[in-house]
Amino acid sequence: MFPTSTFSSLHSTNVTPTPSLSYLSTSSLSSSSSTSSSSSSPSSSLSLLQSSCLHRRHLRSFCAFGDTQLRIDPKSKGLKVTCSVGSEPLKVMISGAPASGKGTQCELIVQKFGLVHISTGDLLRAEVSSGTEIGNKAKEFMNAGRLVPDEIVTAMVMTRLSRQDAKEKGWLLDGYPRSFSQAQSLEELKIRPDVYIVLDVPDEILVNRCIGRRLDPVTGKIYHLKNFPPETEEIKSRLVIRRDDTEEKVKSRLEIYKKNAEAISSTYSNIVKKINGNRPKEEIFKEIESLLLQVQKDRVKMMKPGNIIPEIKNKKNQDNWRGIPTKLNNIPHSREIRKYFYTDVLEATQRAINDGRTRLKVEINIPELNPEMDVYRIGTLMELVRVLALSFADDGKHVKVCVQGSMGEGALIGMPLQLAGTRQILEFMDWGDYGAMGNFIKIGSVGSKEVDEQDDIFVIVAPQNAVGNCIIDDLKAMTDAAGNRPVILINPRLKDLPGSSGVMQTMGRDKRLEYAASFENCYFFRLLYYAGTQYPIMGALRMSFPYRYELYKRVDEPSGKEKYVILSTFPERPDTDEVNDAFLGKPRNKTKEASGIWGFLSGIF
Ligand code: AP5
Repeated sequence: MFPTSTFSSLHSTNVTPTPSLSYLSTSSLSSSSSTSSSSSSPSSSLSLLQSSCLHRRHLRSFCAFGDTQLRIDPKSKGLKVTCSVGSEPLKVMISGAPASGKGTQCELIVQKFGLVHISTGDLLRAEVSSGTEIGNKAKEFMNAGRLVPDEIVTAMVMTRLSRQDAKEKGWLLDGYPRSFSQAQSLEELKIRPDVYIVLDVPDEILVNRCIGRRLDPVTGKIYHLKNFPPETEEIKSRLVIRRDDTEEKVKSRLEIYKKNAEAISSTYSNIVKKINGNRPKEEIFKEIESLLLQVQKDRVKMMKPGNIIPEIKNKKNQDNWRGIPTKLNNIPHSREIRKYFYTDVLEATQRAINDGRTRLKVEINIPELNPEMDVYRIGTLMELVRVLALSFADDGKHVKVCVQGSMGEGALIGMPLQLAGTRQILEFMDWGDYGAMGNFIKIGSVGSKEVDEQDDIFVIVAPQNAVGNCIIDDLKAMTDAAGNRPVILINPRLKDLPGSSGVMQTMGRDKRLEYAASFENCYFFRLLYYAGTQYPIMGALRMSFPYRYELYKRVDEPSGKEKYVILSTFPERPDTDEVNDAFLGKPRNKTKEASGIWGFLSGIF
C-alpha cells in the first residue's frame, strides 16, 4: 500500500534500536544540544535522536500507530521569504487544541516563511513508526490520548532546536510546550519565541475535525473528508487515520489541553496572539501572515541605525551577562558585587542614551544600595554615581551631578535625611588624578539655574519629595531648561506626599504624577522578599535597557550555594499579581488577587 522505498530509506539510515532513555534527563540537555550533528550510524541514544531529527527535515512523518507508513514533506511552493536579512531569524510557537488546525497552518507558514517546522506530534509519530525505544515508550501515552513524559519530549525538542538549520532559518514550534514545566524548560534555557500564536476553535468543531481527518502518507498533506476532501480517487485510497482520532480520545486530549493551556499562555502573556481558527484556512493564514510580516518589520526597524543598535552592538554584553550574583543579603557587599552592579547599570544607561532617550531613571534596590534601610548606604550610591559620571566624562561629555538642596521655608526648611551631607561627600570623593572633576564633571543642585550651556548630561542623585516639600517643580524647571539633553535620576522617590498648608505648588497633583512618570527606566533591579521581611530573598526582578523585565526565583542548591532561575519575562514592569502568578505557576487573568504566602509581594512595587 505504501511505497517501499520510503520505508527502506528510513529504516536503513534513520533508525537503530534505542538502548536507553536515561540520557534524556533535562540536565543532559545542554550537552546534547552541543554534541556532534552527525547523522550516520548513531552509536548512542543521543545520536539516535539527532539522526532521526535530521531525517525529519525531509521526512515529515506520521503513521497510523503500529504501522510503518511515513509521509514526506510536500515540496514548498510559492514565495519563500528568508527572514534573516541581517537580523535574527523568526521564532514562532503555534498552539491550540487538538485539531485546531496547527498542522494545516504550519504547512502554509513553512511555504511562505521558510521556517524549520518542529512538530512534537510528528517527531513522536516518527519514533513510533520506526519502533525505537522512545517510540515504544511514547506509543502507550499517545494511544491513550495522554501527554508523553516531559523528559522524552523536551530532549527531542532541544536537540532539534540546536541544529544549524533551525538556528539559521528560524523555527516554528508546533505542539511544544504543552505543559507549564515544558514552558519552564525553555525559559531556563532562554529559548523564547517572537510570537506565541494560539488557534481558537470551539470544542464541538474540534471533535468533528478530528473524526474527519485523513492523512496522506505520501505527500504528508492533511485532509478532511468534508472540509478538504482529497483531490483524486488515488489519493483517497491511500489516506490513513490517526489512532488517536477517535471521539473518545479526542475528548481526553482536549481535556488535557484545557488543563494546561492557560498556564503555558501565562509564560508568554506578552507575546500571545489569539487567532480565530474557526474560519476558512486561507483566511486564518492571511492573519498569521500579516502578523509574522509585522514581527519581521519590527525587527528590521530595531536594526536601523539610530534605533536600537544594542541588539547587535551590545548583544555581547547581554550574552556575557553572568547572571545575578549570590548572597545579596550579606552586607557590606564585596567590591566585586558592587562593581558588578555598577557595570550593569552603566551598560544599560549607555544603551539608553545611545538610543536617544533623554528622561531616564535607574532604580536599584539591593541592601547595599538602599539608603532607606541604612543612611550610610548613600556612600555606595555615590560610588555608583561616580562610575557613571566618570564614564560619560571619559567619552568627552560634560556631566553635572546634582543633589537637591534644602527645601521649604521656616520650620519646614530642611532636606531628606538620606541626602544630608551628600553634596559634601561628592565634593570630597576621589575623582581620579586626571582632572575630570572641575573640567568634565561638576556638582550642582536641582533647578533651572543649574543648567549651563556646556552641560551635556545631568545625573540627579535620589531626588525625593519630603512631607510638605515637593521637588518636582524644581526638577521640571530643570528638565525644561535641559531640553534634549539626557537627565538621569538615580533611585528617585517622586511619589506624591502630603503638602503642608501655606506651601503652594505650581503644578496640580495629576500633573506632578504625570511628570514623575515621564522618566523611563533604563535599569531596574529589585530583590523580592516575604511580606515585612528582608530574609530570605525569594527572587529578583531585573530590567536592563532595551531588554525585557526578567523575573528570577532564588533557589538553594544542595551544596549550600544558591542560584537565580529565570521564571518569566515581561515587556513592562509586572504588577504584584503577575509576579505572584509567575512564582506560583498560575495562569494569568485567573487569579487576579495575590494570595497565600506570596501575598508578601503586594505593595512592594
Ligand atoms: P499532535 O500531533 O501535536 O496533536 P494535537 O495537538 O492533538 O494536534 P493535531 O495534530 O490533532 O491537530 P492540528 O491542530 O495539527 O490540526 P490539523 O491541522 O491536523 O500530538 C499528538 C500526541 O503526541 C499528543 O496527544 C501527545 O500524546 C503527544 N505529544 C505531542 N506533543 C507533546 C508534548 N509537547 N508533550 C507531551 N506529549 C506530546 O487539522 C485537523 C483537521 O481539521 C484536519 O482534518 C484539517 O483538514 C481540518 N482543518 C484544519 N483547519 C481547518 C479549517 N480552518 N477549517 C476546517 N477544517 C480545518
